Amino acid sequence: MTRRLFFALWPDDASRDALVHATRKAVKASGGRPVPVENLHATLLFVGPVPEEQVAAIEAAASPVTPAPFTLVFDAIDHWRKPQVLVAAASQTPDEARSLASRLMTNVARTGITPDVKPFRAHVTVARKVVKPHAIGPMTPVRWSVDGFALVESTTLPEGSRYTVLRRW
Ligand code: 2AM
Repeated sequence: MTRRLFFALWPDDASRDALVHATRKAVKASGGRPVPVENLHATLLFVGPVPEEQVAAIEAAASPVTPAPFTLVFDAIDHWRKPQVLVAAASQTPDEARSLASRLMTNVARTGITPDVKPFRAHVTVARKVVKPHAIGPMTPVRWSVDGFALVESTTLPEGSRYTVLRRW
């Protein structure tokens, strides 16, 4: 039995609503499937399937990671062709955010589980299955003050993904 886990920045309700508001038109125009508001997040590290008995080790790997607070400003709508997603992206990545993602990666890798390593790009996926080329550009900036991160489980249901926050730091 494995559980599909990832580390993410989990927005508060105000940032969540601001993200929806600032991207609504672009999502509609994209013809893609909007990500439900309760699912919006910024992935720090996709861990992947973790055997049940190793979940505690993943939590233990994250516990010593104590990020300095930082602010992300999502200011651009982007269309990523390969994964067919529309994202709200931060054009500037604070060093603290990069360092948080990289410390999680290093600590998780030490548990023996190999996470899916991609260069960190602060983004929130707002629509999936965006197949037609889509106009991209600036958006009304959404400022998101980050003072913690979360370990999240992804469950696939017939109606789509459900994300459950397992723990917050
Ligand atoms: P995203 O952050 O670009 O939307 C849970 O699946 C989350 O982890 C999603 O938000 C997803 O993309 C992100 N993710 C990163 N790498 C992934 C991978 N290899 N497989 C599935 N999801 C991945």
